[in-house]
Amino acid sequence: MNLTLRIWRQKGPGIPGELKTYKVEGILPDMSFLEMLDTLNEQLIGLGEDPVAFDHDCREGICGMCSLVIDGRPHGKDPLATSCDNRMRRYKDGDTITVEPFRARGFPTVKDLVADRSAFDRILQAGGFVSVNTGSAPEANAAPVPRHKAELAMDAASCVGCGACVAACPNASAMLFVAAKISQLALLPQGGPERERRALAMMRRHDKEGFGNCTNEGECEATCPKGVKLSNIARLNREFLRASLRTPVE
Ligand code: SF4
Ligand code: FES
Repeated sequence: MNLTLRIWRQKGPGIPGELKTYKVEGILPDMSFLEMLDTLNEQLIGLGEDPVAFDHDCREGICGMCSLVIDGRPHGKDPLATSCDNRMRRYKDGDTITVEPFRARGFPTVKDLVADRSAFDRILQAGGFVSVNTGSAPEANAAPVPRHKAELAMDAASCVGCGACVAACPNASAMLFVAAKISQLALLPQGGPERERRALAMMRRHDKEGFGNCTNEGECEATCPKGVKLSNIARLNREFLRASLRTPVE
């Protein structure tokens, strides 16, 4: 199949970019979206042109590195799929596809389709961890966890930190990401001792990085490739309110 691609090209941070049009040929239905971009890059390199920069690592929907806005939708139109999970069988010969980077104040564009998502690392460094020494793997019955809580914690822990929730949100809020990271710890006994410090520190860092606040638009949940639920944001709000009321004003 032959396709027309409109791809965001930007030479570096802060440099104005533009959508450029390319023709790509010989795309097979079983190729992934990233393999289609590889094919384009081989063509560009053959012509002596700069290949399109894009993020990727596992190419199996695990790492969250791929971060493309495909025809206006973060990670494309396949539900519950990362950009690398998208297959070209969704398209037909002659289609035109527009590809852009994740855009948000907290995700500045580095080059072409690559966004700097290190803000997520700084939010995690602010409190997304358990700092007590929990020793080696504990005996399973030492701290019983109700099954429904364990399942909610596992669902929250499925967040791969891709940032599609930010790219989809009209407020460029990262609260679904923060909520997933807070929930996976708040729901388990190991996360209890630091829950207040964690909620305050992560949300302060979230705001400092330039992300907006949640106004219940729901775009994040609809776009999340891992199906992280909006109800985690309700839990984050409860954790934050609890921490705010129990922490002395400085
Ligand atoms: S909540 Fe979903 S969309 Fe947001 S960073 Fe995690 S996996 Fe990606
Ligand atoms: S490259 Fe790892 S999830 Fe897409």
